[in-house]
Amino acid sequence: MAARYKSDLKYSDVTPERVYMNRRQLMAGAAALGLGSIAGPAAAQEEDLVLNSFDDITSYNNFYEFGTGKSDPKQYAGALTTDPWSIVIDGLVERPGTYDIADILKDKAIEERIYRFRCVEAWAMVVPWNGFELKDLLDQVGVLPSAKYVSFETLVRPEEMVGQRRPILEWPYREGLRLDEAMHPLTLMSTGLYGQELPNQNGAPIRLVVPWKYGFKSIKSIVRISLTEEQPDISWNMAIPGEYGFFSNVNPNVDHPRWSQATERVIGGGLFARRRPTLMFNGYEEEVASLYDGMDLSEFF
Ligand code: MTE
Repeated sequence: MAARYKSDLKYSDVTPERVYMNRRQLMAGAAALGLGSIAGPAAAQEEDLVLNSFDDITSYNNFYEFGTGKSDPKQYAGALTTDPWSIVIDGLVERPGTYDIADILKDKAIEERIYRFRCVEAWAMVVPWNGFELKDLLDQVGVLPSAKYVSFETLVRPEEMVGQRRPILEWPYREGLRLDEAMHPLTLMSTGLYGQELPNQNGAPIRLVVPWKYGFKSIKSIVRISLTEEQPDISWNMAIPGEYGFFSNVNPNVDHPRWSQATERVIGGGLFARRRPTLMFNGYEEEVASLYDGMDLSEFF
């Protein structure tokens, strides 16, 4: 079972949405005809393998720099200039500097990674990302032994990012990881999805993807990465500290103060939209649980 979340999952391992929907319709039809329950455990397992469509992934977004509505990013993010693009990498590194994205991508093997994505708002998708491990970039710049955390910042450019003309959050959008989380092989710097360049609304030209954490940790359109000794400030914790903690690991047992995290709504289910149980660490427990050995995850949420 756990194998389906492994980082080597390929397109061919998952059910294309179209085929899946036909099968659901067949099963629903059979059930309506009183042919008994076909949707047993095997079908339940398959549900997790359904890839969301390109349209789902690129039209239902959170990217507050372009507004707070789910359709705002698709509508307004086209205005963002993503070329040229560089990232400042500073703090506790051997080779700090301003790195052009072309130099960052040189020598990086871009792979496809099919990851479950779980938003803190309790909806979920399965996304085929393209990218490279953050560890490869951190190794390239050389992390100093005193570094304990990695912080990230998004571009500030209100001329092109309409949401930044209002104080929705304190700009720039900020995120952070503990160094061992940042170095974990599941932690991806994504530059594309479905084999295409990342659409602006999904965080072009480069964003973070941390599949065992709530979606807001996956910061978009990154322009700065800093290595620090102290735990960095992160946007959602700064805005509402009682609701959003630094770790934000997907955890069905620790509710958001205003809603349950025990289940999730699958985006794109159409007629057959359903809720399913949320899995510990979003299904990546086998791979990441050891990072939190001995920690009380309801205290460090
Ligand atoms: N990054 C920036 N810069 N600004 C944002 O508002 N929203 C976060 C995260 N990264 C956000 C961000 C949230 S709340 C989620 S759920 C995911 O992006 C959404 O990613 P997606 O739109 O690609 O699904």
